Amino acid sequence: MRTPLVAGNWKMNKTLEQSEALLTELAAKRPDTSAEIIVAPPFLNLPAAVRQLQNSVIGVAAQNMHQAESGAYTGEVSADMLLSVGVRTVILGHSERRSYFGESDELLKEKVDQALAKDLQVIFCFGEELGQRKSGSHFEVVERQLREALFHLDASQWKSLVLAYEPVWAIGTGETASPAQAQEMHAFIRQLLAKEVGAGVADAVRILYGGSVKPANAEEIFSQPDVDGGLIGGASLKADDFVAIIAAAG
Ligand code: G3P
Repeated sequence: MRTPLVAGNWKMNKTLEQSEALLTELAAKRPDTSAEIIVAPPFLNLPAAVRQLQNSVIGVAAQNMHQAESGAYTGEVSADMLLSVGVRTVILGHSERRSYFGESDELLKEKVDQALAKDLQVIFCFGEELGQRKSGSHFEVVERQLREALFHLDASQWKSLVLAYEPVWAIGTGETASPAQAQEMHAFIRQLLAKEVGAGVADAVRILYGGSVKPANAEEIFSQPDVDGGLIGGASLKADDFVAIIAAAG
């Protein structure tokens, strides 16, 4: 049985004061759920978020990290820096990192390896562009993204991985994948993992859906057999919406 997970990817939103206010609201609403809950504020808000949530049921993740141990990488943040402020989970491979910052499958393999070497939990994002969906190559694209970055890992490493399927055409657009589309891709991924990595990993790994999840559509999407929760963008910035989505995860 996989524990549902709902993670809020705040992206480049919320000043320190706004972050503290939102987290106060979230903690006060004490979501009634068996689901795991994570929020991913911007880097500068992470230390305060970890302190603020230390006695709550809400975990904290970073939105990215560099693959190097340390060094001359202006503006970057390392795994050890995240660990030093109490962060234990990191989102990698988000489509915005891939498209705006040129993060390739090969680079993401290095980031995943470094994060797992430091015992971080990784929420690994992937998904096709609209043109790839329209041309019918979406399964091929998703397989390539997973194969290039993850299929070298052994079964024990997969225990620290969460997958997040985010069709790029559904991110921030209000154009959500239908529950059937989400289930079709999640089932494909699970079957692919069973074939390439083993049935134990395929059964245990959580596959989140991300892309315009809202309170109105969350329950139907999360009720799909191979959907284990969601990676939420815009709706995670509003306490009531995020709590409603968490409640939909069970
Ligand atoms: O990482 C989650 C994000 O990409 C989804 O964004 O605003 O469509 O929920 P949104």
